[in-house]
Amino acid sequence: MRLCRFLLKNTVPSQIEYYSKFSPSPLSIKQFLDFGRNNACEKTSYLFLRKELPVRIANSLKEVNLLPESLLQRPSVKLVRSWYLQSFLELLEYENKSPEDSDVLYDFLNVLIQVRNRHNDVVPTMAQGVIEYKEKYGFDPFVSSNIQYFLDRFYMNRISFRMLINQHTLLFGGDINPAHPKHIGSIDPTCNVPEVVKDAYETAKMLCEQYYMAAPELKIEEFNAKAPGRPLHVVYVPSHLFHMLFELFKNSMRATVELHEGKTDALPPVKALVTLGKEDLSIRISDKGGGVPLRKIDRLFNYMYSTAPRPSLEPSRAVPLAGFGYGLPISRLYARYFQGDLKLYSMEGVGTDAVIYLKAVSSESFERLPVFNKSAWRHYKNAAEADDWSNPSREPRDASKYKSN
Ligand SMILES: Nc1ncnc2c1ncn2[C@@H]1O[C@H](COP(=O)(O)OP(=O)(O)OP(=O)(O)O)[C@@H](O)[C@H]1O
Ligand SMILES: [Mg+2]
Repeated sequence: MRLCRFLLKNTVPSQIEYYSKFSPSPLSIKQFLDFGRNNACEKTSYLFLRKELPVRIANSLKEVNLLPESLLQRPSVKLVRSWYLQSFLELLEYENKSPEDSDVLYDFLNVLIQVRNRHNDVVPTMAQGVIEYKEKYGFDPFVSSNIQYFLDRFYMNRISFRMLINQHTLLFGGDINPAHPKHIGSIDPTCNVPEVVKDAYETAKMLCEQYYMAAPELKIEEFNAKAPGRPLHVVYVPSHLFHMLFELFKNSMRATVELHEGKTDALPPVKALVTLGKEDLSIRISDKGGGVPLRKIDRLFNYMYSTAPRPSLEPSRAVPLAGFGYGLPISRLYARYFQGDLKLYSMEGVGTDAVIYLKAVSSESFERLPVFNKSAWRHYKNAAEADDWSNPSREPRDASKYKSN
């Protein structure tokens, strides 16, 4: 125990320092696919990951250190930090181990599974820390914008290293997924987007019916502008696409049902339009759930806001359709991870269109990864400056005397 503490205090910071000096190496979906298809070599993957994973963790840990001290002291944030340190140390064990030893490869694969499991609850645990911080210290716009900046990058990093781990364990773990024999790891080379839309809709519908006893219908339309009449396929990670669509359907259903509560007319359907162009594959989910005013749109992506009641941390008591208010921000990260995006367009009083943009060409879908460097550091250190646009809510002190009656 003492030795462990000594190591943590002395060796680990220098190792983190060392690895954080490297920038992460982003891969494209095409590279993931080509590697997995052409007799994927476990030794090559091992050599890449034993450096790349510590690099990504070290970049993240350096940024964690820049959070406000009072947030770092929350027990849940301490816990998350200890998971990262533990995983970092476990991966460093392989720094000098030979890829020619099959036991090393076997143990490494098991360590990856262990790391992945350890990090399963990072998002709700971090969320807990942020909720506690907000309850204790209130809402400060400067801190909130730093936390927003941090969490976007921290969760993006997490998505990326789970992707790397999953590719390795799926390709070399010996389990071919019988339901998806054509998948290369977690990638579907011919991901049928309308099918994923329908799956996500059906899953959200089940939840919605359980909770509200009703759910809007789905109307789906497709348009392949690249190859008219051909199916809408894309090389993508179906689980990421499902995640985003499921979150959008839950939101649209909740808004639709709550707006029409107590009314006798039929629920307006949720519409999905899937289109494929030369550059983008776009998916629009439209509802007539009453929309959101423009002023509030940005904050829907903010980790410190949610209109849903505070969720229980016990999974059995969680509210099924709305939780931490992380549905939109995390979905946007999934979309951005491979150079896409997620945007919300709303007409208050009527409804909302949410659009997911994905790259249509897999060689353009490079991982978008946070890099810890001077510019990132500056984000945390620069104090909030005065607004350089007029602020309508601040009136001159004696403005009342100019007011007409
Ligand atoms: N289609 C929509 N129509 C109206 N309001 C919406 C819509 N989508 C999102 N919102 C508003 O945005 C808020 C944030 O959505 P988000 O999905 O991020 O979190 P949530 O639904 O509250 O919780 P969860 O983490 O379970 O998704 C919602 O609480 C809701 O008020
Ligand atoms: Mg939601």
